[in-house]
Amino acid sequence: MAGNPVTVIFKVNKKEDIHIDHLPEHIAIIMDGNGRWAKQKGKLRVFGHEKGSKAVTEVVKGCAEIGVKNLTLYAFSTENWNRPKLEVQTLMRLLVSSLRKEIKTLQENNIKFNAIGNLKALPSKVYNELMDVIENTKDNTRLTLTLALSYGSREELVNTIKQISIKVKNNIISPEKIDESVINQHLYTQNLPDVDLLIRTSGEQRISNFLLWQIAYAELYFTNVYWPDFTKQHLYEAIVNYQKRERRFGKTSEQLS
Ligand code: IPE
Ligand code: IPE
Ligand code: MG
Repeated sequence: MAGNPVTVIFKVNKKEDIHIDHLPEHIAIIMDGNGRWAKQKGKLRVFGHEKGSKAVTEVVKGCAEIGVKNLTLYAFSTENWNRPKLEVQTLMRLLVSSLRKEIKTLQENNIKFNAIGNLKALPSKVYNELMDVIENTKDNTRLTLTLALSYGSREELVNTIKQISIKVKNNIISPEKIDESVINQHLYTQNLPDVDLLIRTSGEQRISNFLLWQIAYAELYFTNVYWPDFTKQHLYEAIVNYQKRERRFGKTSEQLS
């Protein structure tokens, strides 16, 4: 019997629900504020990064629980290579230990792991660990978790143009055939849909060279919460906020209804 579709909801709090049939297909997060969080507590920046990796676990589980299919996290930018050597080393060390620790959670929750960025620039220990986790989780289907590492959107675009140019030079693609989908297929994010919701923590309201092409029509959400304090509840609040927006993609409101 035909009838109104049942809206499946997930209770966020007494007043607000997430509509499970209207989830963002792809959420991307600029995880910012680890350093300030630590400073506020009179601790070293490194302590903030450690705490930040715990927030990652919580948010990944939060996405899996409600059925978000793609989560992309900005963990280390091309510009972050310019930080003090000791901080960069610590971040790389933390990355290896978190990957080793989290592999179990990824498997138990059927999460596929992916990494984007200039991965070859990473220390070989990190690179090898990444490849291991990618290989071990490649058949998982519940959620694709992508870590952006040594990632910069401009670097990605330069790389994309190079790859396409080589194909043009070798007569694999003709220049007339280059369109948006060809560009999409040559980005690091080639198998991912466009970003629907971009979240940045810590009060900063900028993009910092993250997914410039892929966020063309994303909804932007900024929160003052520092990344180590960001919880599943904060994530769900961002989704509730997203679900209240009208995404018009250039059309008029009337055309949508
Ligand atoms: C985000 O926190 C983590 C990385 C960029 C690696 P920050 O380290 O940028 O923390 P703040 O912005 O200095 O507080
Ligand atoms: C962006 O944060 C990069 C990551 C979160 C990995 P930053 O803290 O490096 O960005 P800026 O310097 O404030 O733009
Ligand atoms: Mg920062």
